[in-house]
Amino acid sequence: MGTLLITGGAGFIGSNLVRYALGHSSDRVVVIDKLTYAGSLLNLQGPLDDPRVTFVRADIGDREAMAHVFAEHRPAAIVNLAAETHVDRSIDGPRAFIDTDKGTIELELAVIDAPLTVANFIALARKGFFRNNAIHRLVPDFVVQAGDPRGDGEGGPGYTIRDEPNELPYLRGTVGMALDWEDTGGSQFFITHSPQPHLDAKYTVIGRVISGMDVVDGIQQNDVIKRIRVWDGEQMIGE
Ligand SMILES: NC(=O)c1ccc[n+]([C@@H]2O[C@H](COP(=O)([O-])OP(=O)(O)OC[C@H]3O[C@@H](n4cnc5c(N)ncnc54)[C@H](O)[C@@H]3O)[C@@H](O)[C@H]2O)c1
Repeated sequence: MGTLLITGGAGFIGSNLVRYALGHSSDRVVVIDKLTYAGSLLNLQGPLDDPRVTFVRADIGDREAMAHVFAEHRPAAIVNLAAETHVDRSIDGPRAFIDTDKGTIELELAVIDAPLTVANFIALARKGFFRNNAIHRLVPDFVVQAGDPRGDGEGGPGYTIRDEPNELPYLRGTVGMALDWEDTGGSQFFITHSPQPHLDAKYTVIGRVISGMDVVDGIQQNDVIKRIRVWDGEQMIGE
């Protein structure tokens, strides 16, 4: 009995390969995965209960962690499937325009750092979800918050999305997804008036204001977002 090392084993192909290996050999299987937005332990439900499987959450770029895995498990073969996929790099810095009754706020969307959250935001804008949405929360010198169709802070699109914590810092004009607790983002987002480092890596940063910060500063509770438009590099969505 040998050991097969599969990197990216919590991804689409990797998790299927893990299942195949367990079903067709008596080998042990070591899975290394960083669990990025693309990987999930849900993909390994079943295999993780098999005593032949070891899961290691690590980055394949982490030399020390890799040396440790190799020393401990001495794999006979390695299949390297870890990769950053699903990021559409053909879209260069998509912009969103939040048209409010006080003026327009222009955002740069963090498509590389929060791809799923940005895709969700664009999909909602495309559907017209934010049309005539009241800005339901204002905390002076902290945030304005919008995207709640109910207007009481409890509303959302009817589903929730996974968090994508990233390394973008909360500065003045940072746009973040609002949450109740882990993985409960949907449509509510906020814009910071000032740096808020205690929010870093806790709330997915989806972009930053690149013009119209004076509009953000002037917004009062119950001001209205008329619509959100998104420039995807080729066309304006949500007009
Ligand atoms: N799915 C396809 O149709 C297809 C086609 C051709 C080639 N490929 C290639 O096959 C490989 C796997 O594809 P997939 O569809 O399973 O991708 P996937 O995105 O579903 O899985 C990739 C996995 O790698 C993990 N990962 C990413 N960066 C990592 C890192 N630095 N360290 C450790 N883990 C990391 C992710 O968490 C994820 O679980 C990729 O190289 C992809 O480009 C896929």
